[in-house]
Amino acid sequence: MAVSRRTFIEQLAVVGGLSLAVAGMEALGFGFASAQAAPPPLTGKGKGVRVVILGAGLAGMTAAYELTKAGYDCQVIEARSFAGGRCQTARKGFSHTDLIGHTQVCDFDEGLYINHGPWRIPYNHRSTLHYTKLFGVALEPFVNDNDAAYVYFQNGGGPLAGKRLRKGQLAADMRGYAAELMAKAAGKGGLDLPLSPADRDRFIGYLVSQGRLSPKSLAYGPTEGRGFDVYHGAGLDPGPGKLSAPFALADILSSDTWRALEPLGDHEQQLTMLQPVGGMDHLAKGFERHVGKLIRYDTEVQKLTQGAAGVEVFFTDKAGKSGSIQADYCICTIPLSVLQGLDVAVSAPFKAAMAGPAYAPVNKIGLQMKRRFWEEDHAIYGGHIATDIPGIDTISLPSTGWQGQKGVLLGYYAFGADAARISAKSPADRAAFAVAAGQKIFPEYAESFESAFSVSWHLTRYSQGGWAEWSDDARASAYPVLCEPDGRLYLAGEHLSYLGGWQAGAIESAWQQIAKLHARVNAA
Ligand code: ALA
Repeated sequence: MAVSRRTFIEQLAVVGGLSLAVAGMEALGFGFASAQAAPPPLTGKGKGVRVVILGAGLAGMTAAYELTKAGYDCQVIEARSFAGGRCQTARKGFSHTDLIGHTQVCDFDEGLYINHGPWRIPYNHRSTLHYTKLFGVALEPFVNDNDAAYVYFQNGGGPLAGKRLRKGQLAADMRGYAAELMAKAAGKGGLDLPLSPADRDRFIGYLVSQGRLSPKSLAYGPTEGRGFDVYHGAGLDPGPGKLSAPFALADILSSDTWRALEPLGDHEQQLTMLQPVGGMDHLAKGFERHVGKLIRYDTEVQKLTQGAAGVEVFFTDKAGKSGSIQADYCICTIPLSVLQGLDVAVSAPFKAAMAGPAYAPVNKIGLQMKRRFWEEDHAIYGGHIATDIPGIDTISLPSTGWQGQKGVLLGYYAFGADAARISAKSPADRAAFAVAAGQKIFPEYAESFESAFSVSWHLTRYSQGGWAEWSDDARASAYPVLCEPDGRLYLAGEHLSYLGGWQAGAIESAWQQIAKLHARVNAA
């Protein structure tokens, strides 16, 4: 007997509760695809099987947490003196020495911080949110879009080049002009629409509402949504206020600022975006509370051997003393940029595949400002200032501490060759570069600046890059090789996912590899 979709989902809910019903809804296309929501159930035996895990980042700690729960005997080796890998937060006293030898000690005021690694958690990264919930990591909204935030493009042409514009005004104008053009063309039959006349009228109605067009003339003009030159208020003065005039379409186009309207289109950048209260490293600390006792800190892996009976990992500790650990299996989460330089016993094809991805140069800088001028003087509460200033790209305003006295903003977030160029400067020169650039947009920037803390991930020991970047060729040839074990060695990390540069990639990659390992152990 055929069952209706509704009956089917109700039956799933009876058998498997809400999660099965939701899975059923997604399979039927009612929901949306999202990151994996829960770890694999590791039912069966794990007892006595020794697993050595290289790296106490999110992938390594996920593996340690889940495998330990299933009865495995795990040890984690971590080169740094703290857990979390790239999941770091700089606050007062946090020290960072880069591969050039520059040491910075963060000097922000108590309570202020910068997430110089991961900084936002998309609502659809259910794997990451699984652990924030499990470990009681408090979350708050991360303002990933803000109509009041500025767009500042200096390299285009026309009268808008080098001017700071409110993103919401640009967005209203581009939406309005595009809607006007389409509505007029559709009304005149100029669009070859596969629609009935009634549906074409509805479509024009949609464009009118989207673009806030005049229903009569279909023209775009000043709208309340775009904002005011003179804002209305109480009494007679200023009365009803005065709407602001749109920018000219040709001026927006020639300034290139329309490019700043794109990012929210990505699935991972949509609202609601979240962040842990007090810093992203609270997620790392949540894991650490459970698996910290398994971690050997300040211990650098030098070499890995493996044979039919097991693996052996050779290391040196902080004092320079060498040692080794034997285990049945190894899960290695060391980034490939680092792993390639280590003496690891793997097959020739596996070794070759390790050179597959490039690692992204990525720079971030936190700037402590003695006054939250972006809120006080500009009415911008969080969100991003999009720029085309090479080496700056994005300035981001904090999503926390509203209306406090001081704040730490992100002074640049840049990738690629520009990031490499700026990272060659001393920390003081990087800060001077960031402050001079910000001054073009906010006149209060330089006078408010107090202290800086910058990190370049490609110059960061044990990371050597922000995240793995796969070409289509390497994704097709090298990636599948690395997703399978080589003997008794399993790799995990964001680099072995399609969620590169996201914590969800690290977590889900670990989930996948421990499921494979567990199936093998149980088949033995
Ligand atoms: N996932 C990284 C970010 O949120 C790239 O910026």
